[in-house]
Amino acid sequence: MKIIKTVNEMQAFSLEQRNRGKKISLVPTMGYLHEGHINLLREGKTRGDVLIMSLFVNPMQFGPKEDFSKYPRNFDRDAALAERAGTDVIFYPDVEQMYPEPFKTSVYVSELSDMLCGKTRPGHFKGVTIVVAKLFNVMLPHVALFGEKDFQQLIIIRQMVKDLNIPVEILGMPIIRESDGLAMSSRNAYLSRDDRRRAVAISKGLFQAADAFKKGLRDSKKLQDIVRFDIQSAGLKEDYVEVIDEVTLKSVHEILDNARIVVAAYAGSVRLIDNMPLKKD
Ligand code: PAJ
Repeated sequence: MKIIKTVNEMQAFSLEQRNRGKKISLVPTMGYLHEGHINLLREGKTRGDVLIMSLFVNPMQFGPKEDFSKYPRNFDRDAALAERAGTDVIFYPDVEQMYPEPFKTSVYVSELSDMLCGKTRPGHFKGVTIVVAKLFNVMLPHVALFGEKDFQQLIIIRQMVKDLNIPVEILGMPIIRESDGLAMSSRNAYLSRDDRRRAVAISKGLFQAADAFKKGLRDSKKLQDIVRFDIQSAGLKEDYVEVIDEVTLKSVHEILDNARIVVAAYAGSVRLIDNMPLKKD
């Protein structure tokens, strides 16, 4: 496995692979890998000839009061896990490589970036879209894999790729969970033992709502209340619980097709997100 730290070297590598007719798959990450990331890598391996993982804790997507400096990092462990999952190259740039001064360009997907998590984290998705656009230009992937854990992020990236005619196929992958149902996240490492125990209420509520939907409940308010009840009973603090349309991300009241229930809640000071599709069978 190769580790590449500069934009020039990375771009040259990818161009050479493309010229040789190789198909490049990319899994962008901020590291501190867990089974959710590994699942993307394993799938990525089957989708191309060369598997690249980027590892960059992107300062642009963190708010001034957020956890950029204390975001968990462990390069050696990540490198070992990535290699075991079949990664051929890790792109591991530093902040100066990605954002040499002066840096002036932004990529902003309107509306979609300002709802749900965008309300609580202003500027967050602008940080995500600029870095992902740059990563695509540096690694020139044919296919890039993203998790549905960050459902809003996935939809925003799809929109960006479409609007900017970026020639990359975006593949969304299902959420990987701990055995008790908690969605895996690098940020779970922050949870105190008590908050970790409480946090399971989020997925528990989502599973119950998805089940009630299967049994015929179509009223979004009632489905949301199922999740709210579990979150509140566990002592978590709601940021939002919404039934949304999977394409527009807008709230839906009478559910027809392609709906998803999405949640953000705080366990102590840790902000957790999760979601589940509402499917009839
Ligand atoms: P990060 O949080 O490291 O996540 C990297 C990828 O792993 C994302 O596509 C995310 O949706 C996916 N992922 C995380 N937890 C998952 C889970 N439990 N199940 C399935 N997939 C999961 O998301 C980012 O980094 C950044 O915003 C990034 C896209 C790299 C841009 O900086």
